[in-house]
Amino acid sequence: MKDLKFAVIGGGFMGKAHSIALATYPMYVWPTPYYPQRELIVEINDMLAAESGQRFGFNRAGTDWRQAVEDPEIDVIDVLVPNVLHYDVVMAAIEAGKHVICEKPLALDGDKARRMADAAEAAGIVNQVGFNWRLTPAIQLAKKLIDEGAIGEIRSVRSFWLGEFFNDPSVPLVWRFQKEQAGSGALGDIGSHAIDFSRFLAGEITEVQGVQQHFIKERPLPGGTGTGVVEVDDATAFMVRFESGATGYIESSWAAPGHKSDAGFEITGSTGSLSFTWERMSELRFYDGRDAADRQGYRTILVGPPHPYGEHFWPVPGYQISYSDTKVIQILDFIQAVSGEKAAPQTTFRDGLRSTLVEEAVMESARTGQWTKVARD
Ligand code: NAI
Repeated sequence: MKDLKFAVIGGGFMGKAHSIALATYPMYVWPTPYYPQRELIVEINDMLAAESGQRFGFNRAGTDWRQAVEDPEIDVIDVLVPNVLHYDVVMAAIEAGKHVICEKPLALDGDKARRMADAAEAAGIVNQVGFNWRLTPAIQLAKKLIDEGAIGEIRSVRSFWLGEFFNDPSVPLVWRFQKEQAGSGALGDIGSHAIDFSRFLAGEITEVQGVQQHFIKERPLPGGTGTGVVEVDDATAFMVRFESGATGYIESSWAAPGHKSDAGFEITGSTGSLSFTWERMSELRFYDGRDAADRQGYRTILVGPPHPYGEHFWPVPGYQISYSDTKVIQILDFIQAVSGEKAAPQTTFRDGLRSTLVEEAVMESARTGQWTKVARD
């Protein structure tokens, strides 16, 4: 077993999530070809770096991501900083020959995302974008059922990612509300996950028609006085056409009271349907129209050891999984690609690019009011 030394860039929300996953991965997945080492964490100043290093259990802490990228000790650069920084860090890491994980949305626009995907593929490094939601065992089970023909041909997909965490107007104007830092609002921040798992389940999206809404126009400046303008969408909804001929509707909002952090879908096929909500993330609902007429109805499958990735968690059925576990699965998927057990992770930069291209088409459509074709990657 070899060590795989990670440099984590950014010790915020995702710094915490990825550190937990790196620390707990070997406790779940054993034996493993690579043992992930929390070697170096990078933050914006000495105090935050030292604090993150201690809290998240890293051997070293630093303040310069360029040094991390050039550090010969480091095998993997894990990019967990605001969206605007993804491009520079990822491109430098690829140039240095490191394997790279980058959080979603991959880039602020399709051009940058395309350059990142092309460069990663040309360099032959393992590249993964943080679409951990599709790695949820219940969503993986949905894909397995679809591939086995359990619901026939997909006719329609209704997907959503809804939360209420930014409905509070007192939440300060952090980077997520600034266009040049984030690219978009709810669309890229959370809608990108819904785009990704919709593509995963139903294939490529070719055309969209969208609308965007802004509910909270100004927010207090962080740590200061006065307010600043919110430049991004609070909610985006769009109709979609898939390459297969199926149609759909995808909705994202971070100002939807009643939804904590919910994502899900209802997929109707020619012989059955599937339904999932993240608020019950261990359950997949499956309707098989071929059941005898006197016992038809949705059945609820509680995912566990017999289901995708289930063998790595608890040997006892019914223990269920959590958000953190999807990040452990993400690390497993990445390590399997580094070890050559699979050709690439499930969610590569190309998936990041394809989601970004859908997001761009949605924004264009919202501006023009027209159905808009999604650019080819
Ligand atoms: P955050 O704001 O909580 O953390 C970002 C951290 O990066 C901050 O601690 C900040 O000080 C640090 N940082 C900023 N500039 C830096 C630099 N030059 N060098 C080193 N550190 C720097 O943001 P959060 O929520 O962790 O988001 C980070 C990324 O993860 C974003 O791209 C976001 O879209 C994505 N994300 C993904 C999620 C998922 O479920 N896959 C969930 C939440 C965020």
